[in-house]
Amino acid sequence: MSTSAVADDRIPVVRGLPVVGSVAALARDPAACFVRGYLEHGPVFRVRVLNQTLTVLAGPELARWMGSREGQACLRSREVWQGLVDEYGATRTLTGVDGPEHRRLREVMRRGYSRDALRGRLDDLVAITDDCLDRDWRPGAAVPVVTAIQYLVTSQLGTLLTGRAPLEYVTDIRTTILYILNALVTKQRPEFVLRHPRYRRAKARVQELGEQMIRDHRARPAASADRRTLVDDIMDARDRDPALVAENDLVLALTGPYVAGLDTVANTLASLVYAVLKHPEVLHRVRAEADALFARGPVTEESLADLPSITGAVLETMRLYPIAVAQPRVADRDFEYAGYRIREGEPVYCAITVPHFLPEFFPDPHVFDIDRYGPGRREHATPGAYAPFGKGPHTCLGKGIADVQMTLTAARLFHRLDLALDPPGYVLRRRAAPTPGPTDGFRVRVTGTRRPRP
Ligand code: HEM
Repeated sequence: MSTSAVADDRIPVVRGLPVVGSVAALARDPAACFVRGYLEHGPVFRVRVLNQTLTVLAGPELARWMGSREGQACLRSREVWQGLVDEYGATRTLTGVDGPEHRRLREVMRRGYSRDALRGRLDDLVAITDDCLDRDWRPGAAVPVVTAIQYLVTSQLGTLLTGRAPLEYVTDIRTTILYILNALVTKQRPEFVLRHPRYRRAKARVQELGEQMIRDHRARPAASADRRTLVDDIMDARDRDPALVAENDLVLALTGPYVAGLDTVANTLASLVYAVLKHPEVLHRVRAEADALFARGPVTEESLADLPSITGAVLETMRLYPIAVAQPRVADRDFEYAGYRIREGEPVYCAITVPHFLPEFFPDPHVFDIDRYGPGRREHATPGAYAPFGKGPHTCLGKGIADVQMTLTAARLFHRLDLALDPPGYVLRRRAAPTPGPTDGFRVRVTGTRRPRP
């Protein structure tokens, strides 16, 4: 899709309110907003948001194009993340580099972020989950689901990926992500919000956490090959290749798992809890499968791979409640997409999850149906249909970890506890500021303990 003389510059604009444009629709439900744009205008359209106009690419062809040589040459990420990099006084971050530099940096982090990083540690993951359930999900309690799962996810990621569970920093990490994404990445808020003392305090605490991780690493003897974590790999790269991982990049790189994994996994799991409790027949199947899993003894990679109902619930949650609705980029050159001309320097949103809501791929797309992914249906396998982890060279590096974390946590939660929506008829309210997910008001009641901790 390179430039041609016939390419059209008049990209259609989604109708929105005067002045504010589509800001409210985007904040409430960005996926619905992009689906509407695609259905009304096709694979290229624009959305007005306050003083910005976003060019959106969508449709089933997008996934292939983003991974193609041409797609990679047409898009860059630098400007999207430059504000974050500057805010940390860093030189670069993985999400904000492209081409050979990105490939080299991704290689440094690949092992530490991979499913392999959890090898032999699934029992630790169960134990960490039990600790959090016993602390925050007591019988009788009305649990604020998003917050409780954030603590759980931070404990898991911290212990397994970096050797440290910084629970006292959870609020600071969240506040920092929230302000930076809103003000510097999606630009939903003006930059002056970064002067707010609440943000300045939180950001200083995240900096302190990163510096402490560096000191801890330098004070420790070298880790044995089977106990190495992402931190070891990043610190070694800093010593070996400081032109790729500079000293001033360390805090951002070391606290990266929390930034990348906290809201993403927590919001998805919170949506899963809602969807499962809303569908009693699914709850019944998830419980039966979880009970059988833990009755077999210690969890293994193989036993985790054999959970069709729980896996179906995770996949279906990521389809219906995607946390990364679009991948933000900038046009790296003038190019043509589906007959329209996009100009170098234009912000471009690759709305990769739009096909999740198209009936030609997922019949009755708004129905929560965990059997879409089994043999005979495999609705997600059509190329371009399903991309909760994004597409192209920046596809989620932690997706193997995220899969294990979500599957195991969901299994343990429904195995050990009886939960009910609170109030019983609760209908999920969602927000996207900036990561889409349930609002903080979503609660469940722990109505009983099905299995005490062994
Ligand atoms: C439900 C869970 C998750 C979802 C849906 C998700 C989704 C995504 C998406 C869509 C991207 C691409 C962003 C872009 O191209 O603009 C991404 C990138 C990334 N994710 Fe995830 N993510 C999840 C969990 C995690 C976890 C748990 C980790 C690590 C512990 C992680 C680490 C990363 C990293 C390091 C990148 C940057 C990759 C690069 O730029 O090369 N993610 N994720």
